Amino acid sequence: MKRLDKFLGDQGIGTRKEIKDYVKNGVVKVNGIVAKKPDMHIDEENDEVVFMGQILVYEKFRYYMLNKPADVVSATKDGKSITVLNLLKNENVKGLSPVGRLDKDTEGLLILTDDGGLIHSLLSPTKHVDKEYEVHLEHEISSSDIKKLEEGVDIGDIKKSGEKDITLPAKCRLGEKDEKGRSVIYLTLHEGRFHQVKRMLEAVGNKVEYLKRVRMGAVILDSNLDFGEYRRLTLEEIESLKNN
Ligand code: URA
Repeated sequence: MKRLDKFLGDQGIGTRKEIKDYVKNGVVKVNGIVAKKPDMHIDEENDEVVFMGQILVYEKFRYYMLNKPADVVSATKDGKSITVLNLLKNENVKGLSPVGRLDKDTEGLLILTDDGGLIHSLLSPTKHVDKEYEVHLEHEISSSDIKKLEEGVDIGDIKKSGEKDITLPAKCRLGEKDEKGRSVIYLTLHEGRFHQVKRMLEAVGNKVEYLKRVRMGAVILDSNLDFGEYRRLTLEEIESLKNN
């Protein structure tokens, strides 16, 4: 059971005060009857709540994809910079966290949710979800370097045992040159180490000039989203992540 005003607030309908006014104005119905009190209790999983003629479908958790622009940090709070949560305008961002981080200068797909269980399972080392990056490079890349990236490279990490911690096998394919004539590769990783893509390219004597995440598991960055725009994940996308 949940208070009606809390339910409406969680759905991003408005502030407490706005919700109070909506109820007063008779635009909220519960099971076909106009709600009289914002603090009435509803069974959020079974009651039908209609707001201005639209059924509000109960969602236990919220899931978004954001096309992260550069200069925005993948944190929930930051004293100085704009955070990814600041970009989810008009949404109730309480409890939302990004699934993993992108560097401040990295762009592209970032999933945000308040489903802690899903975040944990997508990032746990045993089930680490595939992540694909579009990588624009300072220097031409050779097929032998592509092979090295696929087989695993030494990025300076050391295991507890003292051995070198070589990166796990990855997938790498060469893309078309970009508009500046730079080599572009698509690199798919099955782990998520700090600055991993940049450090992997450094390990083969190259340098990342531009980095964008284009896919996580089966979820592909929506090409309709401009930088800074976001949308809810579809049920299919949510299921694909849960079944990863
Ligand atoms: N690898 C990086 O180096 N940076 C990112 O933001 C993501 C992966």
